[in-house]
Amino acid sequence: MTIKIKNICCIGAGYVGGPTMAVIAKHCKDIQVNVVDINKKRINDWNSNNLDKLPIYEPGLAEIIIKTRGNNLHFSNLVQENIASADMIFISVNTPTKKSGFGAGKASDLKWIDLCAREISKYACGHTIVVEKSTLPIKTADTIKQILGSSKKTPAGELKTFSVLSNPEFLSEGTAINDLENPDRILIGGEEKESIDTLISIYKNWVPEEKILTTNIWSSELSKLISNAFLAQRISSINSISALCEKTGANIKEVSLAIGGDKRIGKKFLNTGPGFGGSCFKKDILNLIYICNHYGLPEVSNYWSKVIDINQWQTKRISRLVVEKLFGTLTSKRIGILGFSYKANTNDTRESPAINICKDLLEEGAILQIYDPKVSFEQVEYELENCVELDSKKNISKFNWIYSETMEKASEGCDALIILTEWDEFSKIDWGLISDKMRSPAWIFDTRLISNSKEATNYGLNVWNVGIGD
Ligand code: NAD
Ligand code: UDX
Repeated sequence: MTIKIKNICCIGAGYVGGPTMAVIAKHCKDIQVNVVDINKKRINDWNSNNLDKLPIYEPGLAEIIIKTRGNNLHFSNLVQENIASADMIFISVNTPTKKSGFGAGKASDLKWIDLCAREISKYACGHTIVVEKSTLPIKTADTIKQILGSSKKTPAGELKTFSVLSNPEFLSEGTAINDLENPDRILIGGEEKESIDTLISIYKNWVPEEKILTTNIWSSELSKLISNAFLAQRISSINSISALCEKTGANIKEVSLAIGGDKRIGKKFLNTGPGFGGSCFKKDILNLIYICNHYGLPEVSNYWSKVIDINQWQTKRISRLVVEKLFGTLTSKRIGILGFSYKANTNDTRESPAINICKDLLEEGAILQIYDPKVSFEQVEYELENCVELDSKKNISKFNWIYSETMEKASEGCDALIILTEWDEFSKIDWGLISDKMRSPAWIFDTRLISNSKEATNYGLNVWNVGIGD
C-alpha cells in the first residue's frame, strides 16, 4: 500500500534541495514540487529568466529547470502555505558545525532543523510524510518526532499525523545531476511500511528498484556520516602518501594507479590534492567525532580526528612550500591563483583549500591575482574578507588581491602560479603564452596534477607537482 502524493514541499533551496527537487519534478510530472526557502535572494535567483543567474552552477541543471519550472516545479518564500498543502515534506536545510555553545567546533548546529520541525508541526494538515534529506546526527529523527507531536490538530480541528523517514542525499557537487539521475543507491530508513513504500514509489519513476535500500532509521542516519568519513579518509590517506612520494622519488600518480588496480581498493577517489574542501566532509567528520565522544568512545573519535589533521597539514604544507621555493619571502611578489572553488564544475567555495592557502600567502605579503571560471568576485571577496577580518591583528591588507577575469590576466607579472582546482581549462594551458607573461625565475605549483608540466619546463618554468616534487 502506498499513499498518493500530489504535493511535495522541500524546505531549503540550496545545493541539495534545488537539484534534487528538479530531478524529482522531471521524473514525476503528476506531482507538484514546491521548493521553499527563507532566503529571498536565493528564491529570486532560482526564478530568474537569465539561467546564468541560477544560485548554483551545476552541469545539466539549467536544462532541467527550463523544462520543469512553472510547470510542476516552483520556487518560493511561501514556507507556511506550502507546508500546509504538502503530502510529503523534504527537510533540506543546512546543518553546519556549531560556532558557539556546547559542542562548538564539532557538533552539528540543528537550529534550522528545529525551526523546520516546528513550522511543519504548526502548519501541516492531515497526514504528512516528513523526510530527512539533510545530513543529521544519529537520533535526530527522535527529536523531529517529538517536535512534530507537539501539535495534534489544525485550527479547524482536523487531526494531524506524521511519519518520519531518513533519506540522506549522496550527490557530489559538480556531478549532482548525473548522481541524482543514476544513483549508486537510494537509502531509506524508517519504521512505517506504508510511508517507506510511498517514498520508494517516487524514486521508482527513474531508479531501478534493486538500487533502493531500506534500513532502520538509525542505520540510515549514521550511514550518511560514515559514507562521508570513509571518502574523506581515502583522500587523507593518499595525501599523506603524496608527501612520502615527494621525499623518495616515487610518483603519486603511479602509486594511485598501482594500488587502485586492486579491486578491493578500487580506482576512484585516489587523486591527491591540496586537501579536501566542501561543506560536507569536515563538518560530518567533526560531527562523528562529537558523537563518538558523547557515547564514551574516545579511541574511535581520536582515530577519525586524524583524517582532519592530515587534511589541514596537507593544505598548510603547500603554503609553506610556496614560500620556501620563492626564496623564503613573498613580500610584494605576485602570485596567480588558478581555481578558487573546492573542486571543479561548481561555484561553491565552502571550506575550499584555496581560502587558507590564499590567507597564508597574503600573510606572507604576496599580491594575489585570483582566477576561477565560475566563482564570482563577490564570493572570493566574501571568503577573503572573512579571513582578513579574523586576522586583522596580523595586518593583512584587504587590498592585496585582485580578481582576474581570465587565466592570462591572472598570470601577468607573476612569480608563481598555483593550480588549486582541477578545472578542465587548466589541463590545456598554453605554457608558451603564459611563460611570456610571468617574471623570471617563475614557478608553477600544480596541486591537482592536471597540467602538462613537461611543456611548462620546456618554456623555462620551474614546476612543482604534488606527490612528485620538482
Ligand atoms: P545550503 O546552505 O546550500 O542550503 C540550505 C538552504 O536552507 C539555505 O538556502 C537556507 O536559507 C535554507 N533554510 C535554512 N533554514 C530554513 C528554514 N527554516 N526555512 C526555509 N529555508 C531554510 O545547504 P546544502 O549544501 O543544500 O546542504 C543541505 C543539507 O544537505 C546539509 O545537511 C548538508 O550536509 C546535506 N548535504 C549536502 C550536500 C552537498 O553537496 N552540498 C550533499 C549531500 C548532503
Ligand atoms: C561529498 C561526497 O562525495 C558526496 O557523496 C556527499 O553527498 C557530499 O560530500 P562533494 O563534497 O560535493 O561530495 O565532492 P567530492 O567529490 O566528494 O569532493 C570533496 C573534496 O575532496 C573536494 O575538495 C575534492 O577536490 C577532494 N577530492 C576528491 C580529492 O582531493 N581527491 C579525490 O580523489 C576526490
